[in-house]
Amino acid sequence: MAQKFAFWLTLALLLAATACDERRKSDTELGLNPQQSAGRRVYDDQCARCHEPYSTSGKKGPGLKGVFKQKFLPLAGFPANDERIGEIIRSGRKEMPGFGQTLTPQQIEDLLVYMHTL
Ligand code: HEC
Repeated sequence: MAQKFAFWLTLALLLAATACDERRKSDTELGLNPQQSAGRRVYDDQCARCHEPYSTSGKKGPGLKGVFKQKFLPLAGFPANDERIGEIIRSGRKEMPGFGQTLTPQQIEDLLVYMHTL
């Protein structure tokens, strides 16, 4: 009886541990190439505090999971393409600051390439 209980308890704990495993995936696990990895670093430094990369739930700004997979950006209403998203990154929008002075064109390019993997 006690053994059976211990078995189910272990199983429950294991399941709970798996469910809570929000461990950050490595670049290799995500299958990122070097340019995408460089873009991920820019994203983590500049964007992650306001935008979840792997979720659509909002922080200060909307979660950006699948941002390029939709036809139009939900808030801005622009087509979700490199040109318009690049423009938002450079110039900002409402409470979002612009990064045209902070990031180099190469960094913005890397960032966009990474965002296509979200
Ligand atoms: C200080 C918080 C903040 C930071 C930092 C920030 N953003 Fe934003 N972002 C926002 C907010 C708030 C909005 C929503 C603006 C609006 O209402 O249209 C937004 C909107 C966006 C949108 C358009 C979403 C849509 O549906 O229209 C994109 C794409 C985006 N941000 C990408 C980025 C990227 C990439 C970075 C990093 C370079 C970044 N943001 C940094 C707050 C932030």
